[in-house]
This record gives sequence, C-alpha cells and structure tokens, in this order.
Amino acid sequence: MAFDRDILELLAASPEIRIETRRADGPAHSAIIWVVVDGEDVFVRSWLGKRARWFREVALVEAALQKALQSGEVLELACGTGLWTQHLVKQHSRVVAVDASPEAIAINRQRVDSDVVEYIVADLFTWTPPAGRFDAVFFGFWLSHVPPGHFDTFWATVRTALKPNGRVFFVDSLLEQTSTARDHEQVDESGEVRRRLNDGREFTIVKVFYEPARLEQRLADRGWEGWVHSSGQFFLYGSVTRIAGALS
Ligand SMILES: C[S@@+](CC[C@H](N)C(=O)[O-])C[C@H]1O[C@@H](n2cnc3c(N)ncnc32)[C@H](O)[C@@H]1O
Repeated sequence: MAFDRDILELLAASPEIRIETRRADGPAHSAIIWVVVDGEDVFVRSWLGKRARWFREVALVEAALQKALQSGEVLELACGTGLWTQHLVKQHSRVVAVDASPEAIAINRQRVDSDVVEYIVADLFTWTPPAGRFDAVFFGFWLSHVPPGHFDTFWATVRTALKPNGRVFFVDSLLEQTSTARDHEQVDESGEVRRRLNDGREFTIVKVFYEPARLEQRLADRGWEGWVHSSGQFFLYGSVTRIAGALS
C-alpha cells in the first residue's frame, strides 16, 4: 500500500520501536517499526534486518522531499540512475534531469519510464541552465562531489536556474563510514576518497563531507535561507530558498 504524503510525514517523525520476530523453527530477526495512529486507522511501517536504520533514514529524507518540493518544474542535477527522479515525477509537471553519463541516463529512463522527464547529457561544470525557469532544483549525492573551489560557482548556477521564489532540496552523505558506496575506501574530511572499480582500477574522487549546521550557515552567508538537517547516522538533507534582495 502506498502511504499519502501526510502519513509519510507523520511516520517519518514518529519514534521508532525496536522489535524482534521469530518463527517457532527459525532464527530471530530484529526490525524497526514506526507506528502512527490516525483516528481509527493504524499505519505501520517497518524495515527488517541490519539495514533497517538506513532505510528508515531514506524514508525520512523522501518524506521531507515530498513536502518541500510539491509541484511545478524541477531541475535535477546529476540525476544518475533515477533513484530520486522516480520520486520527483510523482509531484512535478516537468522534470529536467541532467547527468554527464549517458549510461546512467539510460538506466534512469528505463527505471522511471515517464514522459514528464526530459533528459540532458551534459557536464555540470560547463552547462548553463535556462535562466529563471524552474520552481525547484534538486540534487542527490552531488554537492559532495563539487570541488571546494567550485562551491560558489555551483550555487550561482542553481540560482540562475530558479524562479525568484524557487526552492532547492538536496541530500548527501554524512561523514559516516557506511553512508557512501561500498566500493569507497575509508572516508575522512580530506575532501577526497579512493574509489575502486569492479575491474580493479582505482581512482581518487572528490568527496567533501559537510556538517549540517556549518553548511546551513555557509549558505546563509551566501544569501540562502532554510535548513540543513542530519537524518541521524547516514544523510544530510536541506531545503533553501533565496533571501529576497540577497546580492551574493
Ligand atoms: C553519486 S552519483 C548520484 C546520482 C543520483 N543523484 C543518486 O543520488 O542516485 C553522481 C552522479 O553524478 C554524475 N556526474 C559526475 N560528474 C558529472 C559532471 N561533471 N556533470 C554531470 N554529472 C556528473 C555521475 O554520472 C553520477 O550519475
């Protein structure tokens, strides 16, 4: 059953309950459940196993995204294989999804399968969005890959794309050893990680970890108001708009 936005939001905010289930002849499974009682209805969401907390935090971010970006045209930067595009199409009349990788876009197209999406293959460090077109800009696990020296240019590009009252939503990894892809080495605050491909080749990639309150302040200093939160263990996520009259 698909929960509506209000129930998802209540579930995301409800305290979690840890339970253990066991079949008479089987092993015990630990699980986390969240329960919302709404009049005569009881809504329960649960995740089983070791990754329960991770799924719980993903659900929290998804609920916040649904609440923050509700309609209109959205620009998705570094859309990848569509893990977030599939949510954006539910509420937006148009999703313009940009990524440098045609292979990732092909998977995205197959996964999302929606006429609402327009795909653009482009390098975000040189691509210029249409000015003032979008009600919202979304990027998932992209800000951490923007080199520190490109931070201001990147946010200027986001500003260019937005309508005057447009809103940004983003999600990224917290500095937590298990929050990034499995083929990353140990993570730290150096701004770089080693990445090993399936064929054994290794690369150093940009991966900047932000602390939510510091990122919120940094954005405020540059004319963005809103919030950046931690989901607990794995993710940071934020939603900001331009401060009216901000110059920078
Ligand atoms: C960590 S993935 C995130 C994908 C997706 N947003 C998600 O959360 O699943 C980063 C994405 O950035 C894309 N990418 C890397 N460099 C890029 C660039 N210079 N311009 C556009 N996209 C780029 C990659 O192809 C990849 O799809």
